[in-house]
Amino acid sequence: MELGFFDGEFIDLKERRVLLEDRGYQFGDGIYEATHVYNGKCFALDRHLARCRRSLRELRIPITYMDEELTAIHNDLIQKSGVKNGVIYFQITRGVAKRNHAFPDSVVPLLSMTIRESKTNTKWQEEGIHCTLFEDIRWLRCDIKSLNLLGNVLAKQASHDKNVQGTIQYRKDTNLITEGSSSNFFVVKDGVIWTHPISNLILKGVTRSILVEKIIPSLGYTLVEKAFTPEFAKSADEAFATSTSLEVTPVVHLEDATIGNGKPGDVTKSLLAAYHDLVKKECGSLS
Ligand code: PDD
Repeated sequence: MELGFFDGEFIDLKERRVLLEDRGYQFGDGIYEATHVYNGKCFALDRHLARCRRSLRELRIPITYMDEELTAIHNDLIQKSGVKNGVIYFQITRGVAKRNHAFPDSVVPLLSMTIRESKTNTKWQEEGIHCTLFEDIRWLRCDIKSLNLLGNVLAKQASHDKNVQGTIQYRKDTNLITEGSSSNFFVVKDGVIWTHPISNLILKGVTRSILVEKIIPSLGYTLVEKAFTPEFAKSADEAFATSTSLEVTPVVHLEDATIGNGKPGDVTKSLLAAYHDLVKKECGSLS
């Protein structure tokens, strides 16, 4: 069952509620997180909550929802909805106030959440996906998981328009790849794994952090956190995208180029297997 949480109450998702002067609705003035539920348990919720707090701090939205409370609502949503495998989305906006760009004098941040069943696309993981390249036209604080997603929306639509599964963005001024429309991006070349360094130009993905901090060192691979060009990516041996929903998904075509032999590579497959092992360890099973 799909379920929502709005302003302190659990609600049926069909009972859609929006407060007209919620600053999230009018300005995109808020932040969000999306967490994967496996086997009725949230994976890596602590990392998502830490990023949520950072996003709030960066936007100067008061932190009024403590981790314990957010964790309890996540668990209640899972229990009340009966969802075993799915995604929990939550957003916290600066709250409701008469429309004016500057922060209101007093605000009560507003939390809303949804839970839905969803399945990881295992076909994409087994066969790899095709991606298009798209100019990264987003603002210069992509490190904040803000509700303002129009740049990401236009980037993702480019892949739909071209009938491919994903979009990889690059900055025109530097000709350097940043990340996907809602994922981080990696390539493997000559046995070395490359990804864009943490900066204001990318989101520090939870999946990326788990790979960088735990999985890549444990498998003994070398990681280079350095930006690279689309041409470099096209000539890579392997490429993959990471996110809460994609986990580790191989990218086998980039625009007009075939990556490696057009099949998911061994490094990518080993990273996905290790990621699944971590999920099983934390959540008991993958489904
Ligand atoms: N998006 N980069 C961007 C721009 C993203 O929107 C996301 C996640 C990521 C990967 O982050 P993580 O590994 O923490 O999921 C990177 C989520 C899934 C979304 O927008 O729904």
